[in-house]
Amino acid sequence: MTERSCLAIVLAAGEGTRMKSAKPKVLHEVAGMPLVCHAARAAQAAGRADLAIVAGRQSDEVLKAAAKVAPSARLYLQHERLGTAHAVLAAREAITEGHDDILVLFADTPLVEPEDIAALRKGLAQGAAVVVMGFEAADPTGYGRLLTEGDRLVAIREDKDCTPAERAVTFCNGGLMAISGAHALSLIEAVGNQNAKGEYYLTDIVEIAAARGLAVIATTAAEESVLGVNNRVQLAEAEGVWQARKRREMMLAGVTLVAPETVHFAHDTQIGTDTIVEPNVVFGPGVTVGAHVTIHAFSHLEGATIADNGEIGPFARLRPGAQLAEKVKVGNFCEVKNAEIATGAKINHLSYIGDAKIGAGANIGAGTITCNYDGFLKHLTQIGAGAFIGSNSALVAPVSIGDNAYVASGSVVTADVPADALAFGRARQENKPGLGAQLREKLKAEKQARAAAKG
Ligand code: UD1
Ligand code: MG
Repeated sequence: MTERSCLAIVLAAGEGTRMKSAKPKVLHEVAGMPLVCHAARAAQAAGRADLAIVAGRQSDEVLKAAAKVAPSARLYLQHERLGTAHAVLAAREAITEGHDDILVLFADTPLVEPEDIAALRKGLAQGAAVVVMGFEAADPTGYGRLLTEGDRLVAIREDKDCTPAERAVTFCNGGLMAISGAHALSLIEAVGNQNAKGEYYLTDIVEIAAARGLAVIATTAAEESVLGVNNRVQLAEAEGVWQARKRREMMLAGVTLVAPETVHFAHDTQIGTDTIVEPNVVFGPGVTVGAHVTIHAFSHLEGATIADNGEIGPFARLRPGAQLAEKVKVGNFCEVKNAEIATGAKINHLSYIGDAKIGAGANIGAGTITCNYDGFLKHLTQIGAGAFIGSNSALVAPVSIGDNAYVASGSVVTADVPADALAFGRARQENKPGLGAQLREKLKAEKQARAAAKG
């Protein structure tokens, strides 16, 4: 069988007023990625699909977000929010291009699995004109009910239009639908707005198709797959479901999560086998971790790469551009940003390393700070292989420290240090014999005099 061509239309024109937000609902994020991108990704994962986004408010931003996962996505505008059928028709031009399958997805439904969408398309391949993604609702309130006769789906009744008997039905419309390209336009154009909300309901095409003698069926997805995001409580629920799935996927792929429910991943987190992630670790977007790495508790990573056999934290912060080669250690209360750290280097305690290149095997002492910013520009600090930076040193960039050089503790390094040199960037220590005891006596006497004066 030749592959069927597919147009996926993502409806993203919801105002999302219940989000109580200045930004459109579909730009709110799950796993660090806007909702609209989740829908676009799901459509793509289920097979090659041309993508059309129907947006309303701030449509440029919606398209920009979607383009990150689907660069060829096309934008259509729905100027007035007159219902889901009306929204689909905004993409009329794309619908008339002759695709075999038309998929309609909701941008506020981010958890659909590729296999759920594949099941919809399979229904079309087997001859149905309309396939609806159904689910058994624990509480059907608010959902369209799927009305069946035997195996056939005869209508979808929106909650507000249900009779009491229909309202008792728990088999509901998940919102996603696949429509045969040959029938799509004529079915959707036949939809009217004679209903409780006065909207053009896409769901009405079921009854229209059934009346025309076309085959209409429903698939069954898990309820969590069709979870819709209408407010921030549901946004958090969707995040929870996404995280639970990701944790499971990570563990089954060979990553140890000591307390899985406390680890937070982003949409693109990648971790190698036999890596151990301790409790309360957060992965922001753009993190890749190799194999046999230990990430200790309470670490926060974002835009960072960690090669095999590294050790991070506890309480470490890796920011964008942190690139750690094999066997690098970044210990407690260290922050690393835009820095290449070569094999086996150690930054173990209380340091800030930003805009730097650190050579293999270098040892960065406790409290070392790269002073990378002068209030206007960022500057580079280079530290050679095998160099030893004494504790509490301030390295004022731009500055370079040669291979195997030593920097004495407490130095403020403002000039380059040659390889193998020992740099002192601090005042020389002077000892005054007996002066400590004299000072103590003097202070003691002062305190006693004050107490006596008070009475
Ligand atoms: C819809 C379904 C309902 C289903 C439920 C599942 C219809 C008529 N009803 O109801 O059967 O059980 O989803 O969650 O389809 N949108 C536009 N333009 C519009 C209207 C909506 O782009 O004019 C978009 C929204 O942004 C949203 C999606 O379409 O992403 C669904 O709209 P919404 O108003 O949330 O429909 P529901 O009442 O949830
Ligand atoms: Mg909805």
